[in-house]
Amino acid sequence: MSAPPPKSSQLDPAWEVPAHIAIIMDGNGRWARQRNLPRLAGHRAGTENLRRVIRACAEFGVRYLTIYAFSTENWARPREEVEGLMEIMREFIDRELDELDAEGVQIRHVGKLEGVRPELQAKVREAIERTRGNQRLVLNVAFNYGGRDEIVRAVRLIVQEGIPAEEITEETIADRLYTAGVPDPDLVIRTSGEVRTSNFLLWQSAYAEWYFTPVFWPDFGREHLLEAIADYNRRERRFGRVLDPDE
Ligand code: IPE
Ligand code: IPE
Ligand code: MG
Repeated sequence: MSAPPPKSSQLDPAWEVPAHIAIIMDGNGRWARQRNLPRLAGHRAGTENLRRVIRACAEFGVRYLTIYAFSTENWARPREEVEGLMEIMREFIDRELDELDAEGVQIRHVGKLEGVRPELQAKVREAIERTRGNQRLVLNVAFNYGGRDEIVRAVRLIVQEGIPAEEITEETIADRLYTAGVPDPDLVIRTSGEVRTSNFLLWQSAYAEWYFTPVFWPDFGREHLLEAIADYNRRERRFGRVLDPDE
């Protein structure tokens, strides 16, 4: 008789799988430095890893996966790195689109397309268009995304629409964010040991559970994702309430 697989390699049927997981994919540069490789090699390894994590999310029944791929602040990196990241994004779409589409992944973009090279803009639009009807997993790609930028944009839209101040509610704002229509993330994961938001989903993560791991993004695999989901299941989400008033 073969030994049962280690518990961590399987999803426990009693667990609640977060409907929406958001990931700050951090640590590509340090992963590369540890191996004496250029930073771009780390970004390539990170992109390879993304395939694994998307597949694991689909397997576990996650409905929405939001990944932070490039922030509005990342433009301040050396030109060569920025160019390399744009190229990697383009290659990723070219290489993965058919398979993602076949697997029922709906690709959405959160962030600004302005400022991004026209060829890449066209690729992103094609990916969105092609996968629009897919239902298995919604993949929100946060690319040229910043949480503050997103809120400023929402405020501008509200002013342009002439909405009276007293009519503005939380929904008025939420409906004008890039994530309009997407439920808030239940679990936000940041790899690489950094413990900060770096301008990611500022509004949407108000009541998310945060999970920080020292693992660098290229090494963050299916097992690590399972551990994050297990940890999520040990949390008590209170949303400001008292769960058992008699205790
Ligand atoms: C995350 O890895 C990817 C992007 C920000 C595009 P980093 O490039 O930030 O890796 P570290 O933090 O320098 O290790
Ligand atoms: C956040 O990581 C952005 C992405 C993962 C795309 P950074 O590496 O850019 O964040 P800081 O600079 O460490 O805060
Ligand atoms: Mg980083």
